[in-house]
Amino acid sequence: MTIDKKKVVYQLYPKSFKDTTGNGVGDLRGIIEKLPYLAELGIDMIWLNPFYPSPQRDNGYDVSDYTAINPDFGTMEDFEKMVARGQELGIGFMLDMVLNHCSTEHEWFKKALLGDAYYQDFFILRDEPTDWVSKFGGNAWAPFGDTGKYYLHLFDKTQADLNWRNPNVREELYKVVNFWREKGVKGFRFDVINLIGKDEVLEDCPINDGKPAYTDKPINHDYLHMLNQASFGQDDSLMTVGEMSATTVDNCILYTNPDRQELDMTFNFHHLKVDYERGQKWTQKAFDFEELRTLFHTWGEGMDQGGGWNALFWTCHDQPRALSRFVDVKNFRNEGATMLAASIHLSRGTPYIYQGEEIGMLDPDFDSLSDYVDIESLNAFDIMTESGKTEQEALAIIKRKSRDNARTPMQWDASENAGFTTGTPWLKVGKSYADINVASEKNGPIFNFYQELIRLRKEEDIISEGSYKAAFTDSKQVYAFEREWQGQHLLVLNNFYAKPIKLDLPKEYQNGQVLISNYDNVTLDDTIQLEAYQTLAILISDPVTT
Ligand code: GLC
Repeated sequence: MTIDKKKVVYQLYPKSFKDTTGNGVGDLRGIIEKLPYLAELGIDMIWLNPFYPSPQRDNGYDVSDYTAINPDFGTMEDFEKMVARGQELGIGFMLDMVLNHCSTEHEWFKKALLGDAYYQDFFILRDEPTDWVSKFGGNAWAPFGDTGKYYLHLFDKTQADLNWRNPNVREELYKVVNFWREKGVKGFRFDVINLIGKDEVLEDCPINDGKPAYTDKPINHDYLHMLNQASFGQDDSLMTVGEMSATTVDNCILYTNPDRQELDMTFNFHHLKVDYERGQKWTQKAFDFEELRTLFHTWGEGMDQGGGWNALFWTCHDQPRALSRFVDVKNFRNEGATMLAASIHLSRGTPYIYQGEEIGMLDPDFDSLSDYVDIESLNAFDIMTESGKTEQEALAIIKRKSRDNARTPMQWDASENAGFTTGTPWLKVGKSYADINVASEKNGPIFNFYQELIRLRKEEDIISEGSYKAAFTDSKQVYAFEREWQGQHLLVLNNFYAKPIKLDLPKEYQNGQVLISNYDNVTLDDTIQLEAYQTLAILISDPVTT
C-alpha cells in the first residue's frame, strides 16, 4: 500500500452535522449541502461515523445491517449522490466499519437466539462468564436468551462480539467492506480493530479488566492481513485507519508497516489520558504536560524508526474537545486552537480534523444530567453515585469527560439551534453557539490557520515525508520536535501554556525562515520568546554546521 501522505482527513459526525428534514438528526443531504464549505477548508477525505441501520444504543456503533442506510440519515440514492458530489470537489469518503461486534438486533444474532447453530457460531458463547469488565461498565458477558449460555460483549450488552475465529464470519465481513468499495468509497476506519482476535481459550484475567486476554493478540495481525488481502488491499488508492484500544508502539508498527499489508495507520489514545487520575477516565485532574510530551515523542520517534504511520488527532466523537481540555479558552481561544492544530499538522502522520475544530468549538457546558444521551456517560454516572460520589460531584466529572462534549450539533450560525435543525436536536446545542459558529468564524483566525496548515502539507514535502526527532526534551511547557527531509530541517515549537517562555534557539535556526506561526512579526534571534500558546515552525534548507 502506498498512502498519500499529503492528505488531510475531516471527521464528520453525521448525526450532528446538518439536518435537512427537521427530524433533529443530521442527514446525508445535509452533508451534500455543506460539502463546498469543507472543500473551502481544503480537506481531502471525510471519515463518516456510522449511518447504518441501528437501534442507536451506542449512536450507530451497534449496527443491525452493515450494507444499508438508516432512514433517519437518508437513502442509498442520497449516499451515491454524496459520493459523486464529493468526487467533483476532490473529496473522498472514508466509512466506519464496526466489525468487532454487531447489534443484538442484527439478523445474525436474532437467528442465533432462535437456535440456529450456524449463526450461534458467529458469536462468542460460553457456559460460564469470565471476570472481564465491559468497557462501558459491568461484566462483559450477558445471558444468551434462556439457553443458560452467555455471550461476550466488550461494549454495551446490545453489542455482541463477533467470532473472528469462524471463517464464515470473516467472509461475511469481507463482503461488507467490498460492498462499500463498489459504491466508490475511498477509505475505511476500522472500529476497535485490535480487539477482534481473542484468545482461543477464554479464561479469567484479573489484570487490567481482562484486556490482555483480547487486546493486540498476534492473531489480530493475521486477521487484519487476511482482511486486507480479501478487500481494500486490492486497491492501492484506498486509505485505511485502525482504531486501537490500549495498544503499544510495537503493535502499531506491525499494524502499519507497509511490508506487512495490514493497515495504513492507527489511532491510539495514550495522549488523551494525561488528565486521568491513576489511569481512570472518570476523574478530574489538570493535564500532565511532561507525560503528554513524552508520549508524543515516544510515538513520533518509535513509529518513524519502525516504519509505521500515525493518525494524528486531538478530538474525536469519543473525547471531550481538546480546546476545552488543554487551553485557557477564556483568554486564548484563538491562540490555543491554532497551536493545538499546528502541533499535530506539522508532525509525522496523517492529521484528522474533528468537525468544529476548524471554528474553535468548545464543550457544550450542559447544566444537568438529562442533557446527556451517551450510554457510557449515563452508566458512569450510576457507577460513580453508587460508589459514594454525590450527584453533583459525578455531574462535574461527566461534564468534563463525557463523549457528548464532542457530539453536540455543528454550530453553523447564531439562529436557533445554531442553524443545525429546524426541529428539536437529538442532543442539545452547545451554549457558545451564538458567538462561535461557522458564519462568524469562517475566514477568522482559526479557520484560516487550518487552511494554511493544509496548504503547507501539500507544498512542503518535509511536512508529509520528513523524519521525526524530539527537541527541547526537558522543557516544562514547550512541546518541540524536528523534522528532516533531504537536507531540509523544520523545527516546530509549541507553547502549551498561557505563560510566555524564553528559549535559546539553536544557531542553525537563527537565520531560518518562519514557515508558520499563530503570532505575527516573529523575529529570530539567539533567544526568542514564545508568547501564550504560541506555535512557531522554522525551516532551514541548508543547515549551517558548526
Ligand atoms: C469505538 C467507537 C466508539 C464506540 C466503540 C464501540 O471506540 O469510536 O464510539 O462506542 O468503539 O463500538
